[in-house]
Parts: sequence; structure tokens; C-alpha cells
Amino acid sequence: MSTNIVVAIDGYSSCGKSTLAKALAKKLHFIYVDSGAMYRAVTLYLLRNNIDLTNEEAVKAVLPDIHLNFHSRDYQTHILLNDEEVSDEIRLMPVSNNVSAVSAIRSVRLEMVKQQQRMGKSKNIVMDGRDIGTAVFPDAPLKLFMTADPKVRAERRFKELQPTNPDITLEEVFENIAHRDYSDTTRKESPLVRADDAIILDNTNLTPEEQLQFALNRIEPLLKKT
Ligand code: DC
Repeated sequence: MSTNIVVAIDGYSSCGKSTLAKALAKKLHFIYVDSGAMYRAVTLYLLRNNIDLTNEEAVKAVLPDIHLNFHSRDYQTHILLNDEEVSDEIRLMPVSNNVSAVSAIRSVRLEMVKQQQRMGKSKNIVMDGRDIGTAVFPDAPLKLFMTADPKVRAERRFKELQPTNPDITLEEVFENIAHRDYSDTTRKESPLVRADDAIILDNTNLTPEEQLQFALNRIEPLLKKT
């Protein structure tokens, strides 16, 4: 029996899941896995290869050609798509605008979940996403469900994107977040939903340090048990 610990962090787009997940992983010396980066890298591959995202069979057919790897450095996400580092490109708007459609495809989800479960088999990890506490690791001992006011989320994401995307507008970012909230929560395959045993963390008015403390207060009793 493995005694490794998985911390599952789910929630809406741009509400600080990865910031908290990285800080928590660093503090606990766990491995951080950004599951959204996987869906983004698949989307990038499909866009680059002009695969029709509405054609499920065409998408399924190319999945075996997509090889994803993480290499961990400083708890940042470094994701390799067929050995090419794509960590920056997957954050740009073409991918952001299409990733919801791709993550709604059943065969894509089945493949991603399989790979994610493999990562959490024998190591202590913090994984963030939309279905980590419900579909990927339903037995995770700690599940957090993060939420925040959509306007606050858009402002935060806008500030992050603006330096590298000077033409971007706050409205565009808000629209993208609203669209992703809608499709993430209404899609047929593993919609974003809080697991019954997930603890809600609304961080509209919380600093990153306060969020980290919130999570540490809940994980520390579990660490004492192992
Ligand atoms: O966390 P993110 O914004 O980088 O995720 C990108 C998209 O991928 C998001 O629109 C929803 C999808 N996603 C998902 O469906 N399941 C996950 N476990 C992670 C992300």
C-alpha cells in the first residue's frame, strides 16, 4: 500500500489555484502538477496541426502523437510537447480561447486522467485543475475548491498577461473567463463541480499568504497521521 499524499485543488479559471498549489508544494516538498497545462498543450498541438476541434474522431486519432512531459524547476510549470518547451505559448489567447472545447472531448479527458493518475501513484503531489478531487483522485485526503469574484479574477489575470500581451483588454480577459466558467461547469464530460468533501476557499479578499496558511492548517493534521 502506498502512503503518498495527494492534495487536489479544483476551482474556477484564474482564481489562483496554481499560485496556491505551487506555494503549498514548495512548502511541503511535494511535486506540483498543473493539469490545465496538459489540456493547453494538447490544444496547442491540435491548433498547430489544423485539426478540426469539433471533429472528435480526428482529435482522437492524433492523441497517440502527442507526448507530454513535465520537467520540474523551481515549482514552475515547464511542459514539453513532443520534447519542445511550450510553457509560454500555451498561455496565449489562441490556446486560451480553444482549450475549453478541447477539454470537453471525452477521449482527451480519458487520456489526461490516465496520465495524471500515474503521476500521483507513488509520489506526494499537489495537483490543480477542474476534476482532480472528483474524477482523477476521488480519494485524495485533502481537496480544496477555490472560487473568487469573476471581476477580481479578470483583473488579476489581466495584470499577469498585460506585460507580454500589451494589446490585451480587461474586457477580453473577462469575456474569456466568463466563457470558460460557463463551458467548464456545463460540459457533459466531468464538469467542474465541487466534490462533496472538498473545502471551499473563496479568496476574493485573501492574500496569497493567507490562502497558503488556510491550506497548511488543513494538511498538517494529515501529515501527522502518515
Ligand atoms: O487551469 P487552466 O485555466 O490552465 O485550464 C485550462 C482549461 O483546461 C480550462 O478551461 C479547463 C480545462 N481543464 C480541465 O477541464 N480539467 C482540468 N483538470 C484542468 C483544466
